[in-house]
Amino acid sequence: MRGILSVIQFLLFLGLVHHSQGQANITGYTCSANHSIYPCHTYVFYRARSPDFLDLATVGDLFGVSRLMVAEASNISSPASPLVPDQSLFVPITCSCDSKYNLSYANITYTIEKDDTYYLVSTNLFQNLTTYQSVIVVNPTLIPEDLQIGVQVNFPIFCGCPNSTQLQNKINYLITYVIQPSDTFASIAQKFGLKEQSLRDINGGTIYPNLTIFLPVSRLPELSQPSIAPSASISPSTTRDRKGLITGLAIGLGVAGFLLILLLLVMGFWVYREVLLKRGYEIAEDKEKSKFKKGGMLEGDFMADVSDCLDKYIVYGVEEVRKATDGFNPSCLIQGSVYKGSIDGEVYVIKKMKWNAWDELKILQKVNHGNLVKLEGFCMDPEYGNCYFVYEYVENGSLHSWLHGENNKRELDWKTRLRIVIDVANGLQYIHEHTRPKVVHKDIKTSNILLDGNMRAKIANFGLAKSGYNAITTHIVGTQGYISPEYLADGIVTTKIDVFAFGVVLLELISGKEAINEEGKLLWMELNAVMEGNEDEKERKLKAWMDSCLVEESGSKESVMNVMAVAQACLQTNPSKRPNMVDIVYMLCKSDALSLDFSVDSLSFATLTAR
Ligand SMILES: *[C@@H]1O[C@H](CO)[C@@H](O)[C@H](O)[C@H]1NC(C)=O
Ligand SMILES: *[C@@H]1O[C@H](CO)[C@@H](O)[C@H](O)[C@H]1NC(C)=O
Ligand SMILES: *[C@@H]1O[C@H](CO)[C@@H](O)[C@H](O)[C@H]1NC(C)=O
Ligand SMILES: *[C@@H]1O[C@H](CO)[C@@H](O)[C@H](O)[C@H]1NC(C)=O
Ligand SMILES: *[C@@H]1O[C@H](CO)[C@@H](O)[C@H](O)[C@H]1NC(C)=O
Ligand SMILES: *[C@@H]1O[C@H](CO)[C@@H](O)[C@H](O)[C@H]1NC(C)=O
Ligand SMILES: *[C@@H]1O[C@H](CO)[C@@H](O)[C@H](O)[C@H]1NC(C)=O
Ligand SMILES: *[C@@H]1O[C@H](CO)[C@@H](O)[C@H](O)[C@H]1NC(C)=O
Repeated sequence: MRGILSVIQFLLFLGLVHHSQGQANITGYTCSANHSIYPCHTYVFYRARSPDFLDLATVGDLFGVSRLMVAEASNISSPASPLVPDQSLFVPITCSCDSKYNLSYANITYTIEKDDTYYLVSTNLFQNLTTYQSVIVVNPTLIPEDLQIGVQVNFPIFCGCPNSTQLQNKINYLITYVIQPSDTFASIAQKFGLKEQSLRDINGGTIYPNLTIFLPVSRLPELSQPSIAPSASISPSTTRDRKGLITGLAIGLGVAGFLLILLLLVMGFWVYREVLLKRGYEIAEDKEKSKFKKGGMLEGDFMADVSDCLDKYIVYGVEEVRKATDGFNPSCLIQGSVYKGSIDGEVYVIKKMKWNAWDELKILQKVNHGNLVKLEGFCMDPEYGNCYFVYEYVENGSLHSWLHGENNKRELDWKTRLRIVIDVANGLQYIHEHTRPKVVHKDIKTSNILLDGNMRAKIANFGLAKSGYNAITTHIVGTQGYISPEYLADGIVTTKIDVFAFGVVLLELISGKEAINEEGKLLWMELNAVMEGNEDEKERKLKAWMDSCLVEESGSKESVMNVMAVAQACLQTNPSKRPNMVDIVYMLCKSDALSLDFSVDSLSFATLTAR
């Protein structure tokens, strides 16, 4: 084994040393000497492949980009329809220089599934846009022969950025392309409307199948796509996100249920032992952990997840949780299956769940942000098949109860409301932009927004959250009044469904009305009527529609109008027209500045008590 490894290392060494500019080598392209050209936005050419990669969602998920981004780059007008085998696609990537290895690549994270090897993932899923040799180089801490399911591997997708001479010659993109057996320089040049000579200049003289080359283009070539989507022999639900399917199966199948129970017993025993051994809740030693992982080959995926979580969270004992809530005494009940409890003098929120809570745990494990409610630890109760999550206690309760409940709404002046929505927007921006794969909350509403002692907001309840950008769900979840029209219609999960729900939250804060009233009328449907007409009419109608306690506040008018405009943008019927959370945070901060200018003299309770 060691012999083979050192041979590979030797080859790699050769690959790294003998390398000419512009030519892909076994480990990829070296960075240009001038590092200031990185990073750049560019594209790879990808072919839709049966059986798994016949829809944009799966392709997008593989590269960590949205379906719409692939559709836009590839001249596809209906992103939801299935693709035909071998259909041409451009996938947008960000190309960077990894100066540690002097390689330029797009860093794509891939989670290992059953039977995956570096070779198979590089050649099949990524279609030779990288090589296993390069994967080995950029993942020095992983052992290729011993990949655990669930492990995240960085796949370096070969790419390049044009240097200053190339930019001068109007070469704005170097698109990565993999040579097919039938390709010649002439055929490639024709396919993409390029000059044969320019292809030769940049890629050297010879090409052979499975080699990556660059297409030097001034702008993205328009692909011609089959005009009629093939009649859906493959429906979206059969080609949806592979991981989603696998998780779905695991939950659905009886066999998996049995495995879960088994796992549960093993875990229960282990946790029990851990607790006995380490009352101080220390982190399990690495050695111990990997031994456990290898020993428990029942369901690698779950095992990997569970042991990852153990590193991060406190594992509480069942007795401890029971004691904290006085034996789940109704007097500790907050609502549903959520209790307030105290452990070692600290107050926590304890949520009782069934075993399918793993999804939430997997997601929470990835997120960590001041505007998201923090998970402190968890507890497993093998006897009853329950699982308890222990969260930080957010003392002022939900925004819903402040707006529509018995709390004094007057404490929610405009400034406070604005700060709350900026907090929520920041939390959403974090899960949409800074987690990989991206997380969609799917159930944004005022009752899932909690307020702390300073009336700052935190997003709670990731129970429905979905990771993986473009999953298509077969049954609609969420809350009436907040669900976006396209999600209701085709069940496609994108971050834009959170944006829509956030728009509804904005309306709720401005109007003080519920997202859905007793007659079942939806609040967001009222928006257009309010925003019609000239400025004077709008102002008059807005005043009548607004929460009465805001009307009395002096000076916030302009800021309110601004937020109405943001809400209107969020509530567009066409999801691609809705802004993303980055833009929203920016726009809201502008409104915040406006309200600062105009309402200094109306500083009230909440502002004074804020930090
Ligand atoms: C690597 O670079 C060397 C030197 O330019 C070249 O001879 C060789 O063919 C390249 N190998 C591959 C696989 O591209
Ligand atoms: C990286 O490779 C390029 C091209 O081979 C070379 O010009 C440059 O000096 C290298 N940079 C470093 C830091 O080794
Ligand atoms: C690639 O991405 C992973 C996960 O996002 C990150 O941990 C790693 O540092 C990145 N590598 C480089 C070279 O940027
Ligand atoms: C990638 O290259 C390998 C061998 O170099 C080949 O077996 C495989 O079919 C290629 N994959 C694609 C998608 O062309
Ligand atoms: C490096 O690249 C930047 C941007 O392309 C360019 O402005 C600069 O002149 C280059 N520097 C050198 C030494 O070529
Ligand atoms: C840009 O790249 C081309 C092709 O690799 C090379 O001939 C040229 O010298 C480079 N220009 C600069 C400024 O590095
Ligand atoms: C390239 O991939 C094809 C299959 O797509 C395979 O048949 C062929 O052997 C590969 N060629 C090389 C040179 O690796
Ligand atoms: C882009 O797609 C449209 C239809 O989807 C087609 O009519 C058009 O010709 C395509 N563009 C090119 C350059 O092929």
